[in-house]
Amino acid sequence: MKRIYLLGSLNCDLSIRAPYLPERGETLKGSDFMINAGGKGANQACACAKLGGKIRMAGAVGKDSFGDMLLASLKSAGADISTVRRTERNTGVAVITVVDGDNRIILDEGANGEVTEADALALLDGAQAGDIFVTQLENPFPVVLNALKLARERGLFTVFNPAPAKAEAREAVKYSDLITPNRKELRLLSGKEGLDEGCEELLALGAGCVIVTLGEKGSLVYKRGVRLEVPCVSAGEAIDTTGAGDTFCGALCVRLAEGAELAEAARFASVCAGIAVTRRGAQIAIPTREEADRFL
Ligand code: RIB
Repeated sequence: MKRIYLLGSLNCDLSIRAPYLPERGETLKGSDFMINAGGKGANQACACAKLGGKIRMAGAVGKDSFGDMLLASLKSAGADISTVRRTERNTGVAVITVVDGDNRIILDEGANGEVTEADALALLDGAQAGDIFVTQLENPFPVVLNALKLARERGLFTVFNPAPAKAEAREAVKYSDLITPNRKELRLLSGKEGLDEGCEELLALGAGCVIVTLGEKGSLVYKRGVRLEVPCVSAGEAIDTTGAGDTFCGALCVRLAEGAELAEAARFASVCAGIAVTRRGAQIAIPTREEADRFL
């Protein structure tokens, strides 16, 4: 099995369920407050580890209790966190409101903003051509961009999850063997409204292939000569979509590392995300490989 190298964010998620979004000046009674391990990068790393991948993550957390919690979560999942640094800046925090299963997130990036190119170099030390590199957009963009370039130069298969959406990320598309936007990110990166048009534009910009995640509509696998709709797999009522895209991305990387074809990897990823949305929280909602295989 190939190894997976991930450069990304770690956030402490402060999540609360609300009946609706409050208006300016309004105080609203919520429920089910929870503090749990999140961050797009860490969620994807956790998914890789729980689903049986060999994963090393680089990133940064503060020297605070949130940082302790995040490292403990990844360690217990089985990820190699030897390249996650502790910095003087506080651990990143995400304040999440969940309404009708959907989430709204406000981020304070904290230590995630301290990640540097040296972290990417340390992460890739020992990586082999054919291994997988994956990253997102919750660290400084120049670092993400250079890490993608570096991984590409070393012959790794680069997976770019362009989240949260940023127009400047267009520059990174050409270094992506696989790019996994949601519909909004696709629109922003491609400047096109239609799904197919958007995918064509990303291919024209230099992406090797595109998988668009479409929530309850599943995903679209798109590359030259291939257009495949992969249905969403429901494992029950969706009560919290936080981290569902991350579960999808992590699961996808694991199956690719195992040598699966894109479509097969996307099907497996749909199952894993379908299970994750039936549970509250980010990392704690991600299924284990045993659970995913049982469901399949
Ligand atoms: O994708 C979900 C994640 O986005 C949350 O865990 C939160 O930390 C933000 O990074």
